Amino acid sequence: MKKIGFIGFGNMGSALAKGIINSNMIGQVLKSPEDILVYDKDETKMQLAKNEGLTTYPSAEDLVMNSDIIFLAVKPKDLKDSALSIKKAFEMSPESKNGKVIVSILAGTKVSKIYEYLEDDSIPIVRVMPNTPALVGEGCFGVFFTEKVPEEDRKIILSIFEKLGTYVIVENEALMDVITGLSGSGPAYVFLVIQALADGGVRMGLDRRTATVLAAQTVLGAAKMVMENLGKIHPEELKDMVMSPGGTTAEGITVLEENRVRYAFIKAVEEATKKSQKLSS
Ligand SMILES: NC(=O)c1ccc[n+]([C@@H]2O[C@H](COP(=O)([O-])OP(=O)(O)OC[C@H]3O[C@@H](n4cnc5c(N)ncnc54)[C@H](OP(=O)(O)O)[C@@H]3O)[C@@H](O)[C@H]2O)c1
Repeated sequence: MKKIGFIGFGNMGSALAKGIINSNMIGQVLKSPEDILVYDKDETKMQLAKNEGLTTYPSAEDLVMNSDIIFLAVKPKDLKDSALSIKKAFEMSPESKNGKVIVSILAGTKVSKIYEYLEDDSIPIVRVMPNTPALVGEGCFGVFFTEKVPEEDRKIILSIFEKLGTYVIVENEALMDVITGLSGSGPAYVFLVIQALADGGVRMGLDRRTATVLAAQTVLGAAKMVMENLGKIHPEELKDMVMSPGGTTAEGITVLEENRVRYAFIKAVEEATKKSQKLSS
């Protein structure tokens, strides 16, 4: 049986804990939700964790010593403090280092940076790039495992992400910047698209709520069709199924092509990736 700790219990930390509670891990990997351990410097977050039946710890050091898998879920600016707490815990109790795995969800933070603060690169680290739809169980997780992560822990960690959406594994850490530019930033691009589609509907006479429902459900439905037909029907063919000769969709698509919308999205991912590369260098 494992104990899973969270340093930081904000948006992402609490969403991940929810994924564990809703998975079939309770009873199989953890005895009960009490085996999810939380330390957050914000007292209100600690209270939220207690309300969920989780165990809170008075310090990150205590939490580290008692956890098998440690999620690092603070903002990148707070990495140094948290990493130094982990280092201190391992110095206080060197034997407690055995069998532990750190899972970092910090955007733009290389594994080497964490090792630098820990002054020890023997601890297995998993680097993850989540996105906000994880908060509603439809997240995307880009995952990079360092070689040392044991197979058993890989399975446990991936089963958490599976409960909160879907995951992809990359072998090359540099690709985490592309994942940041695509699925990390991507929800913002899609919110903009939904908003713009709804604006079009409002412009042509729909009320705002109706237009927003139609726009959002259209994106949700189209995404589901792509996911259910992966490797079977190409998105281009799905588009052709809507675009009949001389019809309304052909008019709409022509406007999008005239305005280089495809190119704009390609460039958006490229520029966001470059920014992530710059921030993490
Ligand atoms: N939200 C996203 O869309 C998203 C997407 C991808 C990746 N991420 C990554 O996920 C991580 C967490 O993001 P979030 O949105 O969950 O942040 P958040 O809601 O601000 O949660 C972070 C929590 O950690 C606490 N904290 C700060 N320093 C701490 C320390 N030394 N020890 C313990 N707790 C500490 C914060 O308390 P205070 O508020 O008092 O500082 C806060 O409660 C970030 O690194 C981010 O890059 C987020």
